[in-house]
Formats: sequence, C-alpha cells, structure tokens
Amino acid sequence: MTDTTAGSARLSALMQRGNDFLGSRFAVLGGAMSWVSERHLVAAISEAGGFGVIACGAMTPELLDAEIAATKARTGTPFGVNLITMHPQLTELIAVCARHGVGHVVLAGGLPPKGSLEAIKQGGAKVICFAPTLALAKKLIRSGVDALVIEGMEAGGHIGPVSTSVLAQEMLPEIATVLPVFVAGGIGRGEAIAGYLEMGAAGVQLGTRFVCATESIAHANFKKAFIRASARDAVASVQIDPRLPVIPVRALKNSASELFAAKQREVAQSLDESRVAMTEAQLQIEHYWAGALRRAVIDGDVEHGSVMAGQSVGMVTKEEPVADILATLMDEAAAALTRRAA
Ligand SMILES: Cc1cc2nc3c(=O)[nH]c(=O)nc-3n(C[C@H](O)[C@H](O)[C@H](O)COP(=O)(O)O)c2cc1C
Repeated sequence: MTDTTAGSARLSALMQRGNDFLGSRFAVLGGAMSWVSERHLVAAISEAGGFGVIACGAMTPELLDAEIAATKARTGTPFGVNLITMHPQLTELIAVCARHGVGHVVLAGGLPPKGSLEAIKQGGAKVICFAPTLALAKKLIRSGVDALVIEGMEAGGHIGPVSTSVLAQEMLPEIATVLPVFVAGGIGRGEAIAGYLEMGAAGVQLGTRFVCATESIAHANFKKAFIRASARDAVASVQIDPRLPVIPVRALKNSASELFAAKQREVAQSLDESRVAMTEAQLQIEHYWAGALRRAVIDGDVEHGSVMAGQSVGMVTKEEPVADILATLMDEAAAALTRRAA
C-alpha cells in the first residue's frame, strides 16, 4: 500500500481555511437537497466530519424550526441551513435560524433580496451565496457575503449553463484569495476535490454522492435509480418554446421528463390558438413539476416524479454510511496529492 502521509498532510493544509470557516473536520459541504437533506442525513454528514446543510425548500417557519431542533438533538457539531430566496416567508425563516443560533445560512435560488444578507448577519450567522458569474460574484462580495459556492451544470437539481471546470478556472484565480469559495457540481471522487483545492478552492460541495447514504431517508426506489444510472442518464430539462421559460433542472430521464416536453408543446399550441393567456400558460409550465421531487424522494415514484441527480450519479454504486463515503473521498484526495508530490 502507498504511504499517503504526505498527501494527507497536504490535504489537511489545503482544507484548513474551509474547515476554519465551517467549523468542520473536512471542508466538504453536503449540498442541501430538498426532501433528502433533513435531520438524518444532515446530522450524519456533520457527525462524520463534513458540513451538513438542511434544505428548507418550501418548509414553513414552524417546520424549519422543528427540523433544526431535531438536527441539533442528533448532533452537537455545526451544520447550516439552505434557504430559497423566493420563499414568501424568507424573513421569518431567517429569524428561525437566528433563534437557533445557526452558524451558516446558504441562500439559493437567485440573488439575495434587499436586506436579507444584513438580517442573516444580524442574527449572528455567516452567509454563503451561489455565484453564477464572475461579475455577480464581485457584486455579492461587495454586498458582504462571507463565502461563495460556484456550481457547474454537471450538478443535480437547478443548474446554470456553464460547466464546473470552466467556472473554477474563470473564478477561483479572481476571488479565492478574497473569500472562501466552495466548488460544486459533478464531484464524485477525491481526485477532483484535490484538484479544486489546489486551484484555490477552500472546499467543495457534493449532493448526488450523498443521496444513497445509509442515513439518507430517500425512498429505496430513488436510491435504486441512482445506483443503476450512468452519467448520461442525468439530463437537463429542455425548453421547447421561447415564450414559456423553463429553468433547467438536471434529473434522471423518465416518463415525467418525456411528458414535460409534450406538456410544453400542448401549452404552446393553446397559446397559438389563443385558448390561454400568457400568464396562465407560463403558470401551467411552472406548476408541472410542483411536488414532483417529493413524489420521487418520499413516495418512491421514480417514473412520474422528478429524480434530480447530477452527472456524478454514475459514480454512486452502492448504499453506504456517510462516514465511509467521506473516508473514501478523503483517501482518494490524499492519494492524488501524494502522487502529485512524488
Ligand atoms: C435531489 C437534489 C435536490 C436538490 N435540492 C436543492 C435545494 O433544495 N437547494 C439547493 O440550493 N440546491 C439543491 N440541490 C443542489 C445541491 O445542493 C448541490 O449543490 C449539488 O447536488 C452539487 O452537485 P452534484 O449533485 O454534482 O454533487 C439539489 C440536488 C439534488 C441532487
């Protein structure tokens, strides 16, 4: 067996900044996944040395309150909360996080609304935002964010148009010295983690790789679909008509994704024939996926629900405890750094 002591020391050194920022042993964020990232998975990730993040999604303030309390009951290690910026009760959700003394709030789903950054900071938490472009990253830095996530289109869930490798090359040299930057999207092995750390990232964020953790409450069918799938099965949803905007989501292809194209054609035809107004047509498209992730994750309907998954799904081959997933990733990263130093 190769002696990876040198690589492990280098890995610890490269992760130090991210660890100090998160208060974790490994600078690995468990990316918040609606319905999946609840008390069990979040606590397990933090307990195993990573940094778990609760996905608030569409939860009410009361539900978030209960979820944070239940997560705290399972772990004394730090974890974060992911809030979606367009949630109608964002202010109340921020207040819930403050009441619980949550140390890190991740804001997802677009630029933070006015006053939200300040409110989070006043509550004593650090703010982490997603930066889709360099210009927006600089704007967010000026507004006082504490850290950024850059996420490429290989990721599962809602995605932007640019790949992780390009975002990392474009953005890390410009911003990684200013504040901690976490790289997300398409990371399935430790070699990639080592690479992004060497490029200046403070750490990484992984979602897909944690879905099949033993501690994840995702339905057995959801996990089975992940284990069977290869990278090319995780496809981005396509917009058919320029009048009907679709925010791309990467998920495993199934009946629902095929029917979505048909639905768009049907609505577009209704528009052409003036049978529906534009706002109604756009709402019909927006509502198509409502409840679809829950249907797949919780009910196990992986044909008619949305099986959000990133391209790294091909590297998910079995159900295993979070601690084993993290140990494998860290071993691979240390081995890669050992080889590079040789
Ligand atoms: C099933 C699923 C649900 C997700 N839900 C959310 C969410 O609610 N909020 C969010 O900010 N990101 C969400 N994401 C993105 C993850 O937090 C993470 O950034 C992404 O999975 C990283 O890329 P990877 O899947 O290639 O590891 C989701 C991803 C998946 C696979």
